[in-house]
Amino acid sequence: MSFYVTTPIYYVNAAPHLGHAYSTIGADILARHMRQRGEDVFFLTGVDEHGEPVALAAEKEGVTPQELADRNAARFRDLMPLINASNDFFIRTTDAEHKAAVQDVLQRVHDNGHVYKGEYEGWYCPRCADFKTENEIEDGNRCPIHHIELTREKEENWFFALSAFQERLEQLYASQPDFVMPRHRYNEALSFIRGGLQDVSLSRANLTWGVTVPWDPGHVFYVWFDALLNYYTALSYARPGEDLTERFWPATYHVIGKDILKFHCVFWPAILMAAGLPVPEHVFVHGYLLMQNAEGREDKMSKSLGNVLDPFEIIERFGTDALRFYCFRDVSFGQDGVVSTAQFGQRYEAELANELGNLASRSTNMVARYRDGVVPDVSLDPALVEAFAGLEADVAGLLDRAEITQALEAIWERVRRLNAYVAETAPWQLAKDPERGEDLDRALASVIEGVRVLGVLLTPFLPETVAKLQMALGDADSTWTAAGYGARRLQRVEKAEPLFPRAA
Ligand code: MSP
Repeated sequence: MSFYVTTPIYYVNAAPHLGHAYSTIGADILARHMRQRGEDVFFLTGVDEHGEPVALAAEKEGVTPQELADRNAARFRDLMPLINASNDFFIRTTDAEHKAAVQDVLQRVHDNGHVYKGEYEGWYCPRCADFKTENEIEDGNRCPIHHIELTREKEENWFFALSAFQERLEQLYASQPDFVMPRHRYNEALSFIRGGLQDVSLSRANLTWGVTVPWDPGHVFYVWFDALLNYYTALSYARPGEDLTERFWPATYHVIGKDILKFHCVFWPAILMAAGLPVPEHVFVHGYLLMQNAEGREDKMSKSLGNVLDPFEIIERFGTDALRFYCFRDVSFGQDGVVSTAQFGQRYEAELANELGNLASRSTNMVARYRDGVVPDVSLDPALVEAFAGLEADVAGLLDRAEITQALEAIWERVRRLNAYVAETAPWQLAKDPERGEDLDRALASVIEGVRVLGVLLTPFLPETVAKLQMALGDADSTWTAAGYGARRLQRVEKAEPLFPRAA
């Protein structure tokens, strides 16, 4: 089975922040998990380089848009290995292949009769690069996201006849009830569609920083259509000499934030329909990471509001896995949630260092100490067999639905269960009593098997940590067949080094 997952492509008008890392890590967890299950996976991320936000930022800095794009694209590209994103390709919308493919697809939309020339007049946010409809405008004629005053724009544009797709979109939502997830976002998108669709600008006449409209070279495509198409165009040139489109299109999951729901859940399927292409299986819409401001109000973390957590700094202090863990543990994937450095530090200590880290070092240490590192080959304690029964199926089922936080919670319940088991069985007491050797064998074997399983299940979430753990366990099998409790048995273990040393 093929599994194709994407992130939004990020604007290069600013440096990456934790919000960008968040979407990318979410998609990465799904990609890594599906690889464990032996699926044929393609994971795409990249940058969105055209359009007014970039042109404006470049102008402000006195550089050309291409120079700014080159500089900031590199920063996003460098973020990927740092957060351990296992993306198969990094797309830049200034890639010549992407631009040619955009022209190709949109020419088809034109030739299929879904495009006309008209005059646009309305309210526009240059930061969103988005025309706002009346019910999207905040008091004082402001952008509801950036809170800046909207500008009145009037120009001759090519239009995409979105309104003609209302019925087909409603049919899509009826026939693919999990086209948009979670459910409340599906409802939001569907009610937007039912509220009546207006045609949208497909081109801009007054901009030059973009992909040229092939049938009217005085125009460039409206950046959103150029950007959305990345998901499709990348497949045609990501592997030199190979076209992956057949193999991976339509996409399985587009992971996005709720700010760009309208584009992905309404415009995107419509433009694909207009081009005669299949629509994606799912769009997963996550919430915002929020930061508390000085007045105690919660704001979306965003560069323009100046309240960003810098992922590079966090990684330096706590490590990549801690960041990957925190984002999905503290905020439920799909909901909004407040993040802070203080909470970050607390979870690091309480859950990673004390719960998981101690479990790993204690359990391996006890086997090393009481059994010279040899894992007793005895039957497993039924209490733990029961506690782990069905876990891997539950985790797979949750991740099939991109419910990352719930999957992590299911795993973490077992981290806690194993710690409780160690406390209950108190192997250090058993070790003092020569008559209780069998009980000790069983307790040690049962705990260490649990730790092995946790390693397999946590692989997509904490890849670096699990690699360290698996070194100590002498077993690096993270394939899904190894995910069941009792599916494999370890032979010898070594004492694990602290997985989460005290943060600097
Ligand atoms: N370039 C467009 C997307 C085009 S996709 C075809 C864009 N770029 S962006 O740089 O502004 O990134 C937006 C995405 O970054 C959001 O949809 C979300 O995935 C992520 N986030 C940015 N800030 C965020 C938070 N504060 N919280 C959570 N995610 C955030 O829009």
